[in-house]
Amino acid sequence: MRKTYRAHSSKDYWAQRWKNIPVDLPQENANVYPLKFALKAVNSKNDRILEAGCGNGRILRFFKNRGYEIEGFDYIDGAIQTLLDSDPKLKVRTEDITSLSYEADSFDCVLAFGLYHNLEEKDLHKAILETNRVMKKNARLCASFRADNLQNFINDFCANKPFRQKRKSELKFHKMNLSSRELAQAFQKGGFSVSKIRPVENMPLLYKSKFFRAKGHKTFDESLGRREGYLLSPIGNLFQKVLIGLSPHQFCNIYVLDAQKT
Ligand SMILES: C[S@@+](CC[C@H](N)C(=O)[O-])C[C@H]1O[C@@H](n2cnc3c(N)ncnc32)[C@H](O)[C@@H]1O
Repeated sequence: MRKTYRAHSSKDYWAQRWKNIPVDLPQENANVYPLKFALKAVNSKNDRILEAGCGNGRILRFFKNRGYEIEGFDYIDGAIQTLLDSDPKLKVRTEDITSLSYEADSFDCVLAFGLYHNLEEKDLHKAILETNRVMKKNARLCASFRADNLQNFINDFCANKPFRQKRKSELKFHKMNLSSRELAQAFQKGGFSVSKIRPVENMPLLYKSKFFRAKGHKTFDESLGRREGYLLSPIGNLFQKVLIGLSPHQFCNIYVLDAQKT
């Protein structure tokens, strides 16, 4: 396990990030994270689905537009208000995953991409128990978590450059990074049976360089990346394949976990 520290707390980071970009359009590319995995987890239009940490809404809006029964929450009120301004009929609320107002045994499927790694150990355990509480027996959970590996170490090393002079005491907890074993143990301890943990590339390290980005992605545009996926050029894809081929666990940036409430 490794913790990432930054100049701002995780909550301040998300508040700022969602303020800086417009509401998400529904994600378009079903071959990329996270939609690819969400589609595998959702069984039918009769499922009552919860998106935990829905952010600016790319996944929530995808399912809502297709007539699925989906609800969502996020602890950033600004993001929830932006979603409601775009569509007042969306079932979204401002909530914190560590203490939810939903009734027990409510959902058939929970999607939680990039949420749990914003929490430290004690709150992470609380959040997993709270997720479990609102799920029906045998309901499915699909969640992603930051991997404790070389790629994220390099990412953090580069991102920390502007505040490397700061003393550790001035820095704030930002994200948790776990190995696949630690991730499985955390969810098993919280009442889940874990069926799969896959190493997945959300934003490849190579995407940081304009040279390796796909045509149309040369100028960094977060909304486009969120909608289409962070796409690489043919040469970028080739290098990426080599890295992933060498070590999928060191060159992914997240793990996607499939689990079931026992
Ligand atoms: C990586 S973003 C993912 C957003 C969305 N799931 C997606 O894939 O587009 C993680 C989200 O989790 C939210 N979040 C982090 N900690 C949370 C908490 N304790 N309770 C509720 N939401 C939280 C953040 O505000 C952010 O919107």
